[in-house]
Amino acid sequence: MAAQCAELAARDAELLERRGTTIGPYSPLFYRTPRHFVHGEGVWLTDAFGRTYLDAYNNVPQVGHANPRVAAAVAEQIATHNVHTRYLHEGVVNYAEELLATFSPELDRVYFTNSGSESNDLALRIARHVSGNSGILTTDFSYHGNTLTLAAMTTGLDVSEPFGEHVRRFTIPDLDHAGGRGEPEVLAEALAQVAEAIASLQEAGHGLSAVLVDPSFSTEGLPRLPQGYLEGLAALVHDAGGLVIADEVQSGLGRLGWAWWGHQVTGLVPDLVTMGKPLGNGFPLGGVVTSQAVMDSFSSTNMYFNTFAGTPVASAAGRAVLAEVHERGLVQRAADLGERVRARLAEIEAEHPLVASAKGRGLFFGLELVDADGAPNPELAKAIVERLANEGILISRIGPHDSVLKIRPPLVITAEQLDVVVDTLSRALHEAAPLPVGAGA
Ligand SMILES: Cc1ncc(COP(=O)(O)O)c(C=O)c1O
Repeated sequence: MAAQCAELAARDAELLERRGTTIGPYSPLFYRTPRHFVHGEGVWLTDAFGRTYLDAYNNVPQVGHANPRVAAAVAEQIATHNVHTRYLHEGVVNYAEELLATFSPELDRVYFTNSGSESNDLALRIARHVSGNSGILTTDFSYHGNTLTLAAMTTGLDVSEPFGEHVRRFTIPDLDHAGGRGEPEVLAEALAQVAEAIASLQEAGHGLSAVLVDPSFSTEGLPRLPQGYLEGLAALVHDAGGLVIADEVQSGLGRLGWAWWGHQVTGLVPDLVTMGKPLGNGFPLGGVVTSQAVMDSFSSTNMYFNTFAGTPVASAAGRAVLAEVHERGLVQRAADLGERVRARLAEIEAEHPLVASAKGRGLFFGLELVDADGAPNPELAKAIVERLANEGILISRIGPHDSVLKIRPPLVITAEQLDVVVDTLSRALHEAAPLPVGAGA
């Protein structure tokens, strides 16, 4: 057994070496010892050593790894035929109708894409056309994709492109970091910052085309917003002639519970909604949903065509995902299970002095870790992520300081499996950062 493990480890080392000399050493890998998965099923992943991991991190397999229904739908359609969308296909139109039925009635048109980046790039292009302006508002510590346009407004990871002259950044308020200020004060200050950013774009002659935000602000660390913030933000953007783009790549498709889309849960009313990651459960599929008026304005003078987007095979994947979410009641399940986990995380927050706050909703959680002085604690967060992986549980970390543990499992996770995640997390915290004698419960 030991010899077999040594041989497998040697093979992984060789694979890593070959990866470095082809894909390159800059393409990131999770964990000190990269994991090499060879099989998936539901919330489980199995690595090359035969070890199983409970996946409490990945949102692409929203309806479970290797979902049989999605796999069968893709296999059947690809074995039948696959063409681009310049040919009529009933499955594509059925998918468009079924997807749009999950939105409010005003959002009744969809463009298909292959990724979140393409969706956001297209939405920004549409907003620029419709508004006649070029200025963009983006938040601190955000990521919306990898195109040139998006790189020029990336604040959440390193890029060499200069920050766009036509872009202004603003900070999302977090009541967990209010520094003693009351909610109305936090709200007023945050909205004043947005107004200032808009004024700056107008003075520079760019005007405002759009604000692009993730309704849950996941990369930003799942901040706890003051009541009325998103409504106030949207009003300021609309008053300046801009459009509101909700990036649902992470927060969409039932992730936040109660409703299909993050904006429906948080109260943000968007003009454009962008989608990616979970839509095809691993099959590349994304989209931009908007109103007929916006589509008419843009598409009457811009021919949008995208070879691989929304093909019969992609649509078959998308329809199978929607059917799974509907039939298994995953949206409401995310809400119910989420309440249960939130309560448990709140207990951990109360008992452990290095846990500053429990964040998130539905099946998207954060646990913010600090040091003894209350400063962000990325080292502890990293240690916990590694410890959990060694115990067979996948989570990650987010936030401006990488100090917020990120828990975002496939929606098919069960209550018992979530208990295992939270129990293991709690134990790992106590082991990595023991409570002082006499403290805690
Ligand atoms: C919020 C958000 N938007 C957009 C993207 C880009 O999506 P993709 O990698 O599919 O291009 C990501 C990817 O991580 C994301 O998290």
